[in-house]
Amino acid sequence: MQPEVVHPAEGKPMNFTQIYFGGDYNPEQWPEEVWAEDARLMQQAGVNLVSLGIFAWARIEPRPGAFDFAWLDRLMDLLHAHGVAVNLATPTAAPPAWMVRLHPEMLPVTADGVTLWHGSRRHYCPHNPDYRRYARRVAAALAERYKSHPALAMWHVDNEYGCHVGECFCPRSTAAFRDWLRARYATLAGLNAAWGTAFWSQTYTDWEEIEPPRAAPAQKNPAQQLDWARFTSDSWLACFQEQRDVLKAAAPGVPVTTNFMSFHRPIDYFEFARHEDVVSIDSYPDTSDPGWAAVSAMTFDLIRSLRQGEPWILMEQAASQVNWRQRNAVKKPGVMRLGSLQAVARGANGILFFQWRQSRAGAEKFHSAMLPHAGTESRTWSEVQALGRELPRLNALLRGRAEAQVAILMDWNNWWALELDSKPSNDLKLLPGLRAWHRALYRRNIPVDFAHPESDLSRYRLVIAPHLYLVSDAAAANLSAWVERGGVLLMDYFSGIVDPNEQIRPGSYPAPFRGLLGLEIEEFVPYSPEGRNSVLTADGRRFETRFWADVIHLRGAEALARFEQDYFAGSAAVTRNAYSRGSAYYLGAELEPAGLEWLLERVLGEAEVQPVLAGLPEGVEAQRRADSQREWLFLLNHNAFPVRVRLPAGGRDLLGGQAVGGEIELPAAGAAVIETVIDRSRP
Ligand code: GAL
Repeated sequence: MQPEVVHPAEGKPMNFTQIYFGGDYNPEQWPEEVWAEDARLMQQAGVNLVSLGIFAWARIEPRPGAFDFAWLDRLMDLLHAHGVAVNLATPTAAPPAWMVRLHPEMLPVTADGVTLWHGSRRHYCPHNPDYRRYARRVAAALAERYKSHPALAMWHVDNEYGCHVGECFCPRSTAAFRDWLRARYATLAGLNAAWGTAFWSQTYTDWEEIEPPRAAPAQKNPAQQLDWARFTSDSWLACFQEQRDVLKAAAPGVPVTTNFMSFHRPIDYFEFARHEDVVSIDSYPDTSDPGWAAVSAMTFDLIRSLRQGEPWILMEQAASQVNWRQRNAVKKPGVMRLGSLQAVARGANGILFFQWRQSRAGAEKFHSAMLPHAGTESRTWSEVQALGRELPRLNALLRGRAEAQVAILMDWNNWWALELDSKPSNDLKLLPGLRAWHRALYRRNIPVDFAHPESDLSRYRLVIAPHLYLVSDAAAANLSAWVERGGVLLMDYFSGIVDPNEQIRPGSYPAPFRGLLGLEIEEFVPYSPEGRNSVLTADGRRFETRFWADVIHLRGAEALARFEQDYFAGSAAVTRNAYSRGSAYYLGAELEPAGLEWLLERVLGEAEVQPVLAGLPEGVEAQRRADSQREWLFLLNHNAFPVRVRLPAGGRDLLGGQAVGGEIELPAAGAAVIETVIDRSRP
C-alpha cells in the first residue's frame, strides 16, 4: 500500500532536540581500522550527526541486486555506540559502473548531443526508467534494513540535484518532455498558442514533432525553453519524490531532506522545499572575497525563506579550502566559526561540513575536511573541536526564529525567463540585482527574507521586486492588494513585462503595474558598457546611472529623480506613487551604490523598518532569533580588530558564558550570542 504522503509544508516542522554538528562521512574510502579512530575523534570533537554513504552505491550494491550491508551495519552500530546519529543517504548521485555497462542509455546527453560518461559522478539522466528503478530499489533496501536502527536520525536523498548536469537531452528525456507538455496543454492548439509558434513557422501538428531546445541555428523559441526549464525542475523533484515515498513507507516518522545549492538555477526550490520535511543547503563562499559574509548571508536567507522561517540545516560547508576554484583560499583563523555562527543566527539548527576526514585519493583530496591530512595537530582540527564544544551552548534557541520585515521577491520562473536570450540587453541577469539589494540591507543589519511573489506578504513592511519581468496574474494581484493594505513596494526596471507563457502583456509597459506605479514606460534604453547617464534627485543629490534607462511617462506618480542626459533628459528615473494605504516606488535605471543607499533610506523610512541594532561599527553583523519567551542577539565581528558594541539591554553571552551589561567588546573575528528574556510588559 502506498503511504499517505503528508504535505510537509503544511505538516509539522522537524523537531530538533539539539544543534546538529558533523559532516559527510565517507568511510568506504578507508580501511576498516580507521573507522574506530573516526568514531573516537568524532566523539572528541562533539560530532552528533554524520551524513553517511552519500557516494557509496558501488559498495552497498557491488553487483545488481546483491546488497552488502555488513560493513554498514558495523558502522551504524559503531557510530551509535559513540553517540553519533546518522543522516543516512541514498547513494543515487553516483551510479556504479555495472549499471552504466548494463544500461548505457542512462547516461546524460548535453544540448549539443554529447554523452557524459562514467568516471565522475551525477552521470544519470533523470528520466531513465532503469536508473529510476535501481534508485528506488537501493532506497527501499536501505530503508528496510535501517528503519529501526537507533542511530538513524534522518534521510539524505541523493546529493545536490541538478548539480553538474542540470538537464538531459537524450531520447528518453525528449519523450518525457512530450508527456509533460501533453499534461500541461492537453491539445496541440493550446501548446501552439502558448508557445507563439506562428512565429518563424514553428507550428506543431503532431506531439512527436516536438523536441527539447537543442543546439539550433539561431535563437530558440523562448516559451519552449521556459517550459523545458519547468519540466527539468519537475523531473528532479520527481526523482526525489519517489525515493522519499519509498523511505516514508518504511519509516514514516523519519525526516527526509536533500541538500540544496544556494541560488541554483535548474530547480525551483520554492516548489521543491514543500515536499521535504526539513530543508538543508550547502554553502561555499569564497573567503578570499572580503564580501564573503554577505554572500553566505544571502544563501542562508534564501534557505530560511523556502519554508517560511522554519529551522534548517547547513548540510555542507568547508572547514577551510575547497578544491574546485582556480585558487582555493583557506579560511583564516576564526572565519569558519564566524560563518557557522552566521548560519545559526539566520535560522540553522545544524552545522555540518563536507567532509569528516580528508580523502587520500580522488578528485577531492585537496578539499579541506574536519580532520585534515595534517591530523589532530592542526589549526583546522582545533577550530573544528572548539566549534563542536561551543555549539551545544546554543541549544536553548532551537525554537527561535529569525524574522524579517523586508522581503526581496524571488521566483524561479522569472529567473528562467529573464535570462533567456533576445532581450533589450542580454547582460541583464537576476542575481546581481538581488545581490545589490540584499547586500545594501545586509550592511545595514536589516533582516531580509526572499518571498515568492504569489506568497502571503502580510508579515512584511517593505517588499523589493528586482527585475520581476515575468509575472502571473495571481502575483500581480497579490502585490497590488498588499500595497493597498499599506505595504511599501520598491520595484525596479524590466518588471511586469511578460505573462507565464513569456508573451508580452498587452497594453503599455508595465501592464499589470501601471496603476499601482502610476506610470507608463515607452521604451527601454540599454547602454553599452561605457554608456552613462545621471539622475538629479528632487532633494538635490546627483547619482550616476549606467546599463539601463526606462523612458517613463508619469500617470499619477511623483518623480523623485530625473535623468539629466540623453534624449529623454528631464523625464523621471525614480518615482513614488501613493496607492490606497500604501505606496509603490519604481526605479527605472541602474543606480550607482550611493544612489541605492539614498533610495533605500527613503523607502525604509516610509516603511518604518529598523535594523537589528543601530549604530554598529562597520563590519559587525547583527541578527536576532527569538521564540515566545527569549531572544538571542548574534553579534559577529568580521573585522581583524576588536570593536566595542553598545547593547540595548544586558543579558547573558551564551558563548562567553558571562553576564553582559550595556556594552560588550568583541575581539577580532569574535562573536557573542546574547540571550535576553523578552519583556512582555513592553508595548
Ligand atoms: C558539494 C558536494 C560535495 C562535495 C563538495 C565539495 O557540491 O555536495 O559532495 O563535492 O561540493 O566542495
